[in-house]
Amino acid sequence: MSSYLTGMNVLVTGASDGIGAELAVKLAQNGAESLILAGRNRSRLEETALRCKIPCRLVIADLATSEGVDQLLSEVSGEDIDGLVNNAGVGLGGRFEDLPLVDQDQMIFLNCQALVRLSHSLLQPMKVRQKGFILFVGSLIGYAGGPGMAAYSGTKGFVNRFAESLGWEMHDQPIRILLLAPGVTQTSFFKAAGISEDHIRAGQMSPEEVAGEAIRGLLSDRGVVVAGWRNRMLLFLVRFAPRWMVGLVSRKIFSQILTPGTDTEGKKA
Ligand SMILES: NC(=O)c1ccc[n+]([C@@H]2O[C@H](COP(=O)([O-])OP(=O)(O)OC[C@H]3O[C@@H](n4cnc5c(N)ncnc54)[C@H](OP(=O)(O)O)[C@@H]3O)[C@@H](O)[C@H]2O)c1
Repeated sequence: MSSYLTGMNVLVTGASDGIGAELAVKLAQNGAESLILAGRNRSRLEETALRCKIPCRLVIADLATSEGVDQLLSEVSGEDIDGLVNNAGVGLGGRFEDLPLVDQDQMIFLNCQALVRLSHSLLQPMKVRQKGFILFVGSLIGYAGGPGMAAYSGTKGFVNRFAESLGWEMHDQPIRILLLAPGVTQTSFFKAAGISEDHIRAGQMSPEEVAGEAIRGLLSDRGVVVAGWRNRMLLFLVRFAPRWMVGLVSRKIFSQILTPGTDTEGKKA
């Protein structure tokens, strides 16, 4: 049965793990013809490729660097790319002033600049061919904000706004722009960010569920997908509550990241 994705060649960044790996599998299951899977971990990319069961090309590139982004773009140059999934991203947990600036710079580059550069380079040919999509992985925290993940929240606020604005800009073009804003998802993300998963539990979803909702949103050209009904309710509250109240709740939820060893009231455990 043919679908919007039938015959498409799609580039997925951060395809070696978590949400990106599941997005790649779902793209393949929903008609994509071939995939370009990007990441740094070759063996994990190979595992994703095996699960996809369609032709996959692997590109090893560190997208936290300008050279890595240029390398990925040069490896795909001359190829028709029908879809771009800007998924690669990392978080950093802790007090802003305690986290090394070099790590925060790299995170900002990966989470923001890399996807701006990839989108800028690949959107123009999509417009010429009058076909294509870009899926951005933002986050619920980009709407709410999160103490203990201040710079990360900022990067995701950027992704959310950038993707939505670009979608509005493209309204008269046959190019689909989708923002996926997941809430807490069970992946390696928190461990890699230096955050104990015991501290972040609210409404966890599996990466398969999140990817499934994203692909359904892409197929129906929904524009924005907030994965999970609990997260949609949370976003509703974030939008209508005064910001001081959002800050108060946020401080309670994230208190363990700010001061490990305290309970959610901020008292020592
Ligand atoms: N998990 C959550 O609760 C959650 C919630 C909201 C939004 N998100 C967003 O979802 C996206 C995927 O995260 P995830 O939860 O699936 O985390 P994950 O399982 O840790 O996956 C992160 C992916 O990003 C890639 N990556 C990390 N650093 C990279 C670099 N320097 N260059 C190239 N690729 C890099 C990793 O591949 P390699 O290690 O192979 O490079 C991996 O495939 C991120 O943008 C994240 O911000 C996650």
